[in-house]
Amino acid sequence: MKSIESVLHEHRLFPPPAELAADAAISGMDAYKTLVAEAEADYNGFWGRLARETLTWKAPFSKVLDESNAPFYTWFEDGELNASYNCLDRHVEAGNGDRVAILFEADDGTVATVTYQDLLQRVCRFANAFRRRGVKKGDRVVIYLPMSVEGVVAMQACARIGATHSIVFGGFSAKSLHERLVGVGAVALVTADEQMRGGKALPLKSIADEALALGGCEAVKSVIVYQRTGGKIQWNADRDLWMHELAQAEASTCEPEWVGAEHPLFILYTSGSTGKPKGVQHSTGGFLLWAAQTMKWTFDWKPTDVFWCTADIGWITGHSYITYGPLAVGGTQVLFEGVPTYPHAGRFWDMIAKHQVTVFYTAPTAIRSLIKAAAVDEKVSPSNYDLSSLRILGSVGEPINPEGWMWYYTNIGGARCPILDTWWQTETGGHMISPLPGATPLVPGSCTLPLPGIMAAVVDETGQDVPAGQGGILVIKRPWPAMLRTIWGDPERYQSSYFPEELGGKLYLAGDGAVRDPVTGYFTIMGRIDDVLNVSGHRLGTMEIESALAANALVAEAAVVGRPDEITGETVIAFVVLKGARPEGEEAVKIANALRAWVSKEIGPIAKPRTFDLATTCLRRVRARSCAGCCVR
Ligand code: PRX
Repeated sequence: MKSIESVLHEHRLFPPPAELAADAAISGMDAYKTLVAEAEADYNGFWGRLARETLTWKAPFSKVLDESNAPFYTWFEDGELNASYNCLDRHVEAGNGDRVAILFEADDGTVATVTYQDLLQRVCRFANAFRRRGVKKGDRVVIYLPMSVEGVVAMQACARIGATHSIVFGGFSAKSLHERLVGVGAVALVTADEQMRGGKALPLKSIADEALALGGCEAVKSVIVYQRTGGKIQWNADRDLWMHELAQAEASTCEPEWVGAEHPLFILYTSGSTGKPKGVQHSTGGFLLWAAQTMKWTFDWKPTDVFWCTADIGWITGHSYITYGPLAVGGTQVLFEGVPTYPHAGRFWDMIAKHQVTVFYTAPTAIRSLIKAAAVDEKVSPSNYDLSSLRILGSVGEPINPEGWMWYYTNIGGARCPILDTWWQTETGGHMISPLPGATPLVPGSCTLPLPGIMAAVVDETGQDVPAGQGGILVIKRPWPAMLRTIWGDPERYQSSYFPEELGGKLYLAGDGAVRDPVTGYFTIMGRIDDVLNVSGHRLGTMEIESALAANALVAEAAVVGRPDEITGETVIAFVVLKGARPEGEEAVKIANALRAWVSKEIGPIAKPRTFDLATTCLRRVRARSCAGCCVR
């Protein structure tokens, strides 16, 4: 957690570039304030107008927001639409079928170009294949794929037939995949033989096989496999099918399934402060509206833009700003299979120049690691690349430190591109607090002001507003269309986690601390107020890692805390009381390595503790998160 003094100390102000402001979707602070006032004066009218203007509806909605069953809100409920129609068909019908939808760059640098017409046909073929395999509206499909056009195709194909997708990030273990397959009751699983990352082929199908072998997912009738590498895999003829063979056999047109606006578009698991990860359920209409609207407002999207979001489709950022937002507005985007450091740490800058990227959206961890790489090796410095195509930069997933911000602004943006520090969450569906590139003067490290229609506030533990300059709890005071609808299968947990009684039961509790600047009113996020860690922008629950460790036969008890880290924001530190004697030297290293591998197997490599303290005898103080453990030795 940051200190308030350090936050309020920052006074550098960067006004929006005049040229960008002149032509922006929201041009100048007065235009921003007009929209904010419109939302305040007529909340339903404001959201209804945006929904009608931004999306194409099969059947119009008669009511905007229904609060009668709060906090289970519904939006545009009797309206009907289809997300894939909005992302694909309507652009083709408008004569933009030849526009490039995706510039895919593989790990090895090979580029494939996919137009809207191509993408629509690929989605239709795959949607038909799903239907032929009996997958229908309301069914759940788990997708465990690498960053690929096929990933986007699989998600859009689900949306086309009204199936609800649940993506599992390719870095999760068989056990995590299994939990999610069982959790959502999947009828089909889409995976790949292997994934390519940093020049290495990593298994996916064999992990999927392992997950299915754990039992309890007999409802999974089809395992559809994208052939990425041609690597050797086990084949189960009863259920395994090649994606390309299925698609080849199908027609390239497919009537979309028109669904109600509240129909669940997807379920995405994320870590909470207690227990198992939560299946965050999103709607079709409200989610898609906000994904598209924020493309226009936050990223000031224009038809000439080449947009690049470096997130993985396995996280919410990839859902909103790869699969849905950029396609809903008919944009051209870069999709990258690999990692920023392969074959060298200048890869991002090289790709920006090569694809003439205009809007670049990445995470502070990536920026910090590339700053370090450039400091060590001049050859990968951004100054060696022509980055003049850029006009807007974005940051997401974790706090960006002012030094990282200034480097990004100066060295990547050439001191002419606004940086949008976008604060949001898996649960919020899209940006909530963010500067607008043609309106908001920027302050390094601050996500500035809520987007129009988003009623963000900082309150105390009883739900009362706190004065500016005083830290407090970040809440959203009114429902918004893209908010999660529930936690899959656990409505009570939805209510108690996000609308706690202590705050009056009506405020959405984000789980972050925040402070507002007394002069500008700008928000700065102080960090999580619960036991959720943010490691390289990945959200991890301490309890989840503790339970994984406690399940190991050597472990009597475990406690996990986050330690600040220069590059990754936080790292995971585990304090473990072993059942046997406290190990020394080599033996301690061996056990720590075994426990690290164990966590990797139980959850996934992203959750591996960086260091272990096996000399711990009492975890009371660690558990209270009152110390970094140095006094427990
Ligand atoms: O703590 C906040 C942090 O990431 C959390 C949400 O994580 P997740 O659901 O995985 O979504 C990440 C991508 C949207 C938040 O509760 N966070 C996200 N963006 C920022 C941030 N912290 C500070 N500044 C941000 N811009």
